[in-house]
Amino acid sequence: MESGGRSLPIDPLDVLRQRRSAKWQTYAKDVLPLTVAEMDVNLAPPVAEVLAEAVRRSDTGYGQATPDLGRAVARFAARRWGWEVDTAQVTGVTDVGVGVVELLRALTRPGDAVVISPPVYPPFFDWGPEAGVRLLEVPLASVDDGWRLDLAALERAFATHPAAYVLCNPHNPVGRVHAAGELADLVRLARIYKVTLISDEIHGPLVLPGATFTPLLTVPGAADVAVTVMSASKAWNLAGLKCAAVVTASPRLAADRLPPDTRWRVGHLGVLATVAAYTEGEAWLDDLLVTLDQRRTQLGRLLAIQLPQVTWHPPEATFLAWLDCSAIGPDDTARERFLDRGRVALEPGLRFGAAGSGYARLNFGTSEAILDEAISRMATALE
Ligand SMILES: Cc1ncc(COP(=O)(O)O)c(C=O)c1O
Repeated sequence: MESGGRSLPIDPLDVLRQRRSAKWQTYAKDVLPLTVAEMDVNLAPPVAEVLAEAVRRSDTGYGQATPDLGRAVARFAARRWGWEVDTAQVTGVTDVGVGVVELLRALTRPGDAVVISPPVYPPFFDWGPEAGVRLLEVPLASVDDGWRLDLAALERAFATHPAAYVLCNPHNPVGRVHAAGELADLVRLARIYKVTLISDEIHGPLVLPGATFTPLLTVPGAADVAVTVMSASKAWNLAGLKCAAVVTASPRLAADRLPPDTRWRVGHLGVLATVAAYTEGEAWLDDLLVTLDQRRTQLGRLLAIQLPQVTWHPPEATFLAWLDCSAIGPDDTARERFLDRGRVALEPGLRFGAAGSGYARLNFGTSEAILDEAISRMATALE
């Protein structure tokens, strides 16, 4: 049973198991997959309708992102965050990964250094090398209330003149929503040391009650040094439809530097679904955030009672929990035990960088019942 009036319904496990996405195909049938970042909620009705209508019309050709995607992004950004986006500076791309790689190719030279801050979403380690640059790791700082950008260490790294910094805002896997003041400091450093900021804001709409999201391009002075890549794919669960947007705000960084064929690589159904999500999906998003907030509270309660060996800082955004399981063992020990004995799959912490030793990432974008079952199985696995 779901509690709370605006909580979104989620199908039972036997129905979810009929999904054919990667999350549901990777593990044996008796394993609860709390892994890859997709949610178990049903589609937002306006999104489901636009997709069904497209299929009814056999409207499955190439995508056309201009001008609808730009308008939808701009209106959503203005309403939600007070961020004025110039529709002419929005470019559709296949997904966030493609957007970041193409931006790195356009804005750096082969062999340049590009900074990332682990623990971070694993493809951050791949995107740079794919674009021909080398990575410079400046880990997040672990502080009393969680993880933050280490601005002093970033300044030392920026002083060596890397070409770019790929920011994760909000930050997966730790769920940190970078504060406006921190982002202002980051922009100041980027301007001083001439480092281009590429901000991955895919989790921006998933900021949970209690935190405030600051789009990087709303920070004064950011326009000349920063580019944002955003997508509706996390918040509305559209990852398979392949649509994201690069947003720029200055001619120097204008997205017309991206290869011209990029626009043909956007998923048509992705564009339709994204426009519907940003335009008509905000009430559903608000209900989703209520649901995720309930799940976050539930997870805290379950961990405290059943798995006190595992500690965490509740995330300020996302449906991902970064669990410190180091009391159980180093590296992947806990995660392997949860999988082998408990039949619950989590993401191994080490995939997010060396700082992830002893950690695992749990996806709580699921039902109350599945989360209950998962934590109870994980607790039994440690007995
Ligand atoms: C921070 C971050 N960026 C990008 C992605 C993937 O986005 P896409 O599928 O659009 O490349 C994810 C997926 O979880 C993510 O967490």
